[in-house]
Amino acid sequence: MQIQVETQPYSSISTDALVTYVFDKEPKLEGIAAEIDRAMNGRLSSLASSGEIAGKNLEMILVHFPQGLSAQRLLLVGAGKPEKFAASDLRKIAGGALRFLKSRGVKRFVFVAREGERGADAARAIAEGLVLADFESDKYRTDKKNREIASVSLVGFEAGRREAIEQAIENGRVVAESQNFARDLINEPSNHLTPRMLAAKAQEMAAEVGLGVEIFDERRIAELKMGALLGVAQGSVEPPRMIIVRYVPGQRPAGGPVLGLVGKAVTFDTGGISIKPANNMEKMKYDMGGGATMLGAMRALAYLKPRVPVIAVIPATENMPGGRAQKPGDVQTAMSGKTIEVINTDAEGRLILADAITYARQLGCSHLIDAATLTGAIEVALSNVNVGAFGTPRQFLDQFLASATAVGEKMWPMPIDDEYEEMIKSNIADIRNTGSGKGGGAITAAWFLKEFAEDTPWVHLDIAATCWVDEGRPWLAKGPTGVAIRSIIDFALKL
Ligand code: BES
Ligand code: ZN
Ligand code: ZN
Repeated sequence: MQIQVETQPYSSISTDALVTYVFDKEPKLEGIAAEIDRAMNGRLSSLASSGEIAGKNLEMILVHFPQGLSAQRLLLVGAGKPEKFAASDLRKIAGGALRFLKSRGVKRFVFVAREGERGADAARAIAEGLVLADFESDKYRTDKKNREIASVSLVGFEAGRREAIEQAIENGRVVAESQNFARDLINEPSNHLTPRMLAAKAQEMAAEVGLGVEIFDERRIAELKMGALLGVAQGSVEPPRMIIVRYVPGQRPAGGPVLGLVGKAVTFDTGGISIKPANNMEKMKYDMGGGATMLGAMRALAYLKPRVPVIAVIPATENMPGGRAQKPGDVQTAMSGKTIEVINTDAEGRLILADAITYARQLGCSHLIDAATLTGAIEVALSNVNVGAFGTPRQFLDQFLASATAVGEKMWPMPIDDEYEEMIKSNIADIRNTGSGKGGGAITAAWFLKEFAEDTPWVHLDIAATCWVDEGRPWLAKGPTGVAIRSIIDFALKL
């Protein structure tokens, strides 16, 4: 899909569809909407006064063969209440329009930005929305629909700033394509994406964009005494991998921060001996979503070149109930030296992250972000709307949440008071891998990770309920969302 800036007057562009948006109860059509109305001899305002164009959030009004325009169709997308509108809503509007038109066989369209949104931020949000909405997960279908959007022209942008606008579109494309790269990985069934295959994909991606990469096999993992990761991996015939991806900036300020990105990559989570029920177990192929998130973020950072060095540390394994599997009650010694009583083998994410966090700190990461499909409890707390965001110190978490807001990703701060630490005390080891069963499951899981992050500034994102959606949204296909990638990229660029 091509995305380009067009300066020709939109009324004379012959295209499959002309797209713009209208606000809820826009009292009188203004600006571009008014111009289009004039070109159409007042037909839009009569539609508006009849109540047909209400401007409700993402409501679509399609007019065929609009009089006075050279376009075949006019699509008006509802932008909701103007006081709630932000530039990041353009992502959903542009994405919603693309999915609506694509399903009708449209190949090219023109997107007209309105007066308030003609800067680089708007162009970038629109480009991101388009590329994200264009994502299809039909790799394993033999009867592909083969619908393709060939090109989208953006109209209305400040003519004098063409270069900046084009750069913003390119950046938006890089970010969204990286998000789609992660979504593709998350979609892969576990027989097509074992830990070894994930490592190979990381290597391939790193070579393509010029990142450093190192893969540790099971022997190296054992040499490094990553006992918590090995404990999880021992139940599977597929060996584990530790994937390290490095971005090194051109000019590295000595003594500056080093950002570590740690992502859970359980390529399939059966629960192990504490086996999960059959219902919905197939979904556990997406238990590597955190690792995919970090690979997606690294891919984008390779292009966008932040000033800080960034190291991704991704522990990859299956969680299987094989004959050699770890059993409830087993005690494992993590790389940090801490001993862990494994109460429930299904709480495996925190085990593999423990060793990855320890290793990231050993590599010199001064700041850590981890992402993980860690707990079912986060769905109870926040449903599939917000990512659960934990972290210390609070000011570091707030800085991260500001990035999330800036890029239109919903995240909500979760508590991590000392009282919860009591709940992961073990009778025979240093800590146990589940809480006391008195609720707060997402928080005790976060506390377990904090035992390894210690005093390193750290953010933990529980994406178990948001990494995958069962129902499509107007702007996003059902399936993997790629959530958190944009926030992590924005944060790294600002650090
Ligand atoms: N991978 C799961 C969490 C999960 C659940 C992700 C639903 C996506 C959707 C994780 O490894 C797990 O099984 N967690 C347990 C922890 C419990 C045993 C303490 C859970 O949340 O039930
Ligand atoms: Zn599990
Ligand atoms: Zn899991």
